[in-house]
Amino acid sequence: MISKKDRLFNLSTKKTTYLFAITETGHLEHLYYGRYLSKETISIDALAEKRSISIGTGTAYDSDHPTLFFTNLCMEYSTMGKGDYRESSVDISYSRGMQTLDFIVKSYRILPGKPRTFSGLPESYGDKSTCTTLEVMLKETCLPLRLALTYTVFEDSNVITRRATLYNDSTEEVTIKNLASAQLDLDTDDWKLVTFDGAWSRERYMHERPLAPGIMINDSKSGVSSADHNPCIFLTKENGETIGMNLIYSSNHRELVETSPYGKVRVLTGINPATFSWVLAPQDRFQTPEAILTYSPDALNGASQNFHHFINNHIIRGPWKFRERPVLINNWEATYFKFTEDKLINLAKESANLGIELFVLDDGWFGLRNDDTTSLGDWTVNPKKLPSGLENLSLEVHRLGMMFGLWVEPEMVSIESQLYKKHPDWMVAIPGRRPSVGRNQYILDLTRPDVRDYLFKQLSDVWHFANVNYIKWDMNRVFSDMYSTNREMKDHGEFFHRYILGLYELLEKLTAAFPNVLFESCASGGNRFDLGMLCYMPQTWTSDNTDALSRLYIQEGTSCGYPLSTMGSHVSDSPNHQTLRRTDLESRFNIAAFGVLGYELDVTKLKGQQKDAIKAQIAFYKAHRALLQYGTFTRVKLANSTSNQVVWAVASQDKSELLVLFAQKLNPSNPGSDKLRVEIVDLNAVYEVFPRQQRIDIKMFGNLLNQVSPLPITEGGIAQDTISKAVTLDSEVEHYRVTGEQVAWAGIKLNQQFGGTGYDAMTRVLGDFGSRIYIFKKIK
Ligand code: DGJ
Repeated sequence: MISKKDRLFNLSTKKTTYLFAITETGHLEHLYYGRYLSKETISIDALAEKRSISIGTGTAYDSDHPTLFFTNLCMEYSTMGKGDYRESSVDISYSRGMQTLDFIVKSYRILPGKPRTFSGLPESYGDKSTCTTLEVMLKETCLPLRLALTYTVFEDSNVITRRATLYNDSTEEVTIKNLASAQLDLDTDDWKLVTFDGAWSRERYMHERPLAPGIMINDSKSGVSSADHNPCIFLTKENGETIGMNLIYSSNHRELVETSPYGKVRVLTGINPATFSWVLAPQDRFQTPEAILTYSPDALNGASQNFHHFINNHIIRGPWKFRERPVLINNWEATYFKFTEDKLINLAKESANLGIELFVLDDGWFGLRNDDTTSLGDWTVNPKKLPSGLENLSLEVHRLGMMFGLWVEPEMVSIESQLYKKHPDWMVAIPGRRPSVGRNQYILDLTRPDVRDYLFKQLSDVWHFANVNYIKWDMNRVFSDMYSTNREMKDHGEFFHRYILGLYELLEKLTAAFPNVLFESCASGGNRFDLGMLCYMPQTWTSDNTDALSRLYIQEGTSCGYPLSTMGSHVSDSPNHQTLRRTDLESRFNIAAFGVLGYELDVTKLKGQQKDAIKAQIAFYKAHRALLQYGTFTRVKLANSTSNQVVWAVASQDKSELLVLFAQKLNPSNPGSDKLRVEIVDLNAVYEVFPRQQRIDIKMFGNLLNQVSPLPITEGGIAQDTISKAVTLDSEVEHYRVTGEQVAWAGIKLNQQFGGTGYDAMTRVLGDFGSRIYIFKKIK
């Protein structure tokens, strides 16, 4: 890992190499992050910054090193006030606001595996067979401060994780204003920055832009990792080279990308300094969240696949790691708050008939909750709605052969609640100032141990007697009026970090007490889809928006940073409740199937044909579930491009089986031909390729039915409705035997799409938002 002679640190995974070296002044110069380099051939001379003459208006490190200009050096971690005028990774205020900081290498050690840390933050894990850790200890040249830079190298995933730890060895307090988890300095600026941005119901849409001189910031300040800007970012080059970064943290984060006047690029990731400060007591230490980095020459797909491997192997833990996730029904969009015991049991019965495996009771089961104005905090059953109690409902569901799941939103309190009456001071609010409000609710002060103890007791009591198998942990507002009576907190700049540490501690206890329960995190959909939550909860509710078209964008963006096994995806009603868009039931399934499948609609109201369709969907999903949740995923055609088509593929590890989604946004009139070209196949194999058979609602044809019907059929009339309930058309007949090579390099020209001039058994009827799943089976 390190060559003493060269003072070179070489962190190599199977396919990547990361290099840095100690300069003559004891600083760390970053040299390279890219394709694997064989160790014998590395020349530091070739990679290091050349500095034989000074640069104009530059500040040299000192008079002994008149040509060492930090502002034009790639560094592993920056200095402050020593001539580097880019954004610094460290900002600590000491001695009445002094800020100058200069850390140089003191020692280093290499540890097998990944030792656990003290920070109380969630982190990745691995043992000596999967990873190795390097810790480089730096010392401030004039102050009693030390800084440890820790790198863990995960060989198989091609991922390196990084964190920083500050030790205050002095007798005085210092205030940390910024301490990045990782800094990555790159020596050219020909990168594009890819981020995942949005809002409620349109989370993580992918955006790409070229770098420009100055600073770009991707951050959150609302107290959650946020749907606004996910902490996962990528830098990608025209030639396919891609670097990915993410942060194991669920609160305010900042990713800063700075293009310097010398064409170098600095990337910082970590806690957002805009909403952070931390008073570090003498002899105390502070550790940052862990950042994860990957490199791939194979564009965004290659970097995503590295992240997927890493998350499935080194973030997700417990008995649900690599375990197939159940198909669920959630009553939220079926009933909202308006349900009775009978209604729920009927829903559960019908779901069991359809093949659904887990029944989830969502919001409205507790306190006096009939809308969103009351009862958060009172985690006892609403006796009017569930007179036989949760135990009985759970028993009924279990009797039907299904698992039982429950929704909770523990971090919140309603003013209309017993909890607020008893403990008004547990609510986050500033004394004497009227608090701002979100969804009629307020946040509990999880920095306080007594609040966490109350929640642990209340929740574990309910979960025990209701015999739960699954918990949906929701969080439906973000922060305002940050304040706490917690005496440990020396400065209110600590609030957000202490809050998230409090939440993590509570989750650690609850997940340990309920090791077999499957947890799904949620924050008004995907407002907290991050690696921190995934350390406790193996799946996340991706978005409240389940519209098939919107989901192409949402799932596409989410899949860049996170594997399909983590993405909750439901089939809901049409017209969709968020967009009012009408989409076909089969398309809603085809897209939801690329994730952890669920249903969220009133299945008791389905027509016969719809029930048959859903039964077939669930049977198909179960038969291919391991592939759909854990296969190698590739985005072949992007929703966010100018193309009208979206193609996703998921392949088994040995590439003997693939499922390929072909979806179109709008129906192109008089279309040309559509081609399926997929490169993640076994080039030497022969495949059988055919579409999943799906049902076509005859209503799609409207008045055209009169061209073939002996009796008149009015569009929207009773006759059309009756026929549509009784009869559906089979989707097209299409079948190929084709070599992997041909699929990869030539592609398959698919059957003609319906174009208004005729119809036969071969015609692909897709319409707007139509889609198919193609099955590839290796036969030779
Ligand atoms: C927001 C979630 O995203 C929904 O799925 C649902 O659980 C509601 N909260 C319930 O209030």
